[in-house]
Amino acid sequence: MRSPDLARAVDLPRSFTAWALAHGLQRTMIQRGARKGDLISRMVMDPALRLDPFPAYEELRGRGPISANGLISASVDHAVCNEVLRSDAFGTAGGQGELPGPLRWLHHKVIDPDTLGPVDPPSMLAVDPPLHTRYRKQVARAFTARKVGRMGDRVDEVATTLLDDLAGVDDFDLVDRYASLLPVAVIADLLGVPEADRGRLLALGNEAAVTLDPGLSWRQFRRAETALREMHTWFRGHVERISADPGDDLISQLVLLDGPDRLSPVELHQVGLLVLAAGFETTVNLIGNAVAMLDGHPDQLRWLRDNPDAWPNAVDEVLRHQSPVQLTLRIALRATEVAGKRFEPGHGILLYLGGANRDPQVFAEPATFDVTRANADQHIAFSAGVHYCLGASLARLETAVALRALYERFPDLHVAGRPERRGTRVLRGFERLPVSTRAGVVA
Ligand code: HEM
Repeated sequence: MRSPDLARAVDLPRSFTAWALAHGLQRTMIQRGARKGDLISRMVMDPALRLDPFPAYEELRGRGPISANGLISASVDHAVCNEVLRSDAFGTAGGQGELPGPLRWLHHKVIDPDTLGPVDPPSMLAVDPPLHTRYRKQVARAFTARKVGRMGDRVDEVATTLLDDLAGVDDFDLVDRYASLLPVAVIADLLGVPEADRGRLLALGNEAAVTLDPGLSWRQFRRAETALREMHTWFRGHVERISADPGDDLISQLVLLDGPDRLSPVELHQVGLLVLAAGFETTVNLIGNAVAMLDGHPDQLRWLRDNPDAWPNAVDEVLRHQSPVQLTLRIALRATEVAGKRFEPGHGILLYLGGANRDPQVFAEPATFDVTRANADQHIAFSAGVHYCLGASLARLETAVALRALYERFPDLHVAGRPERRGTRVLRGFERLPVSTRAGVVA
């Protein structure tokens, strides 16, 4: 048997080719564009614009509803983003859709199925109808409004347990001790994941989340690949355990599918792992972003304490103002036109959801954070069209319950220390958010 180090060394050429096709070529072009001052490239590469993308969104908006740099288009326009996301003339083109056909074929050949990530087909996020419809139908059953509505008590229970664990702790990292743990507990229940495995999966999901970003460096790619391989290995064991003793969780339902609905092992991995990771890698950011925003607007936090029924609207305002998923990509599947601009098949467009959510044509004074905003829920933070987030109602429920319970337990909770943002481009959230529960203690 090969040692793990030897196996990794033997695997290197394949891994390098997969990286070069999926990220390396793109990275070289984006870096070249950024050096020449191209705004669209800088928005992907410049670390300062990752931390604060909002001035760049306004610069892009000033150039019109759609901008292009010769390689790709981009938009922060709410109407354009909505139209593209809902249009069947655009799709994901099977992941890596921006590569020419032969290179895309090669990428599918070299990628190791045990390292497939959330935006590699057959992940739901990377396939178009009719395949997408087939997968989505199976998972959607677990997330109907009625089923999610019934999860309220469980979410409450998880929040209460986590807050009980913090009794007597004055200072803690909100992300580590609360915002990350609540969503992972809820989604793990839904997928039948044993309690003992949750911490490790959280760490692996954190490492792998970077694969949502375009133009990764070789080192980032390798680290994420290692995490993805461990996740797939864990998932294989999980499926074996569940196949031997099915329960009423979603993975059991997927394993038990029969006839034409039956999923192949690769499909099962991609569907199951996406729901698992999407379930905890996004809501953590929403909870953290909410606490940071409310910390900066104590008057609104006080108002929410007196008007607890307004928590759901406050959650939508955080989704709008600090969208946890800042962008997505679509590729024209056929020649088409949007906002007077012609798209040839294969041309891509970056849709900045976080920028569209600050479109002044839809939201008055869009840069202002206002938990009473009447149309906060017109944001497209959960995307739109066929890929509209399956977990949107669950994420809203988890966050409203998490925030209300947190501030009821710790009325004086405030940020106390230097928050650290995640270095990711697509996901916007905090790596660390130090808080104190003691009145009057400010860093
Ligand atoms: C704040 C929390 C969340 C945000 C901001 C968010 C955002 C999104 C966005 C923007 C997409 C579509 C991406 C695209 O169009 O390319 C999406 C898809 C998806 N989300 Fe979420 N999500 C959140 C929470 C969740 C949760 C809790 C779950 C799981 C239960 C989940 C499961 C999914 C799945 C399975 C998809 C793929 C749907 C498809 O391709 O048909 N999400 N999410």
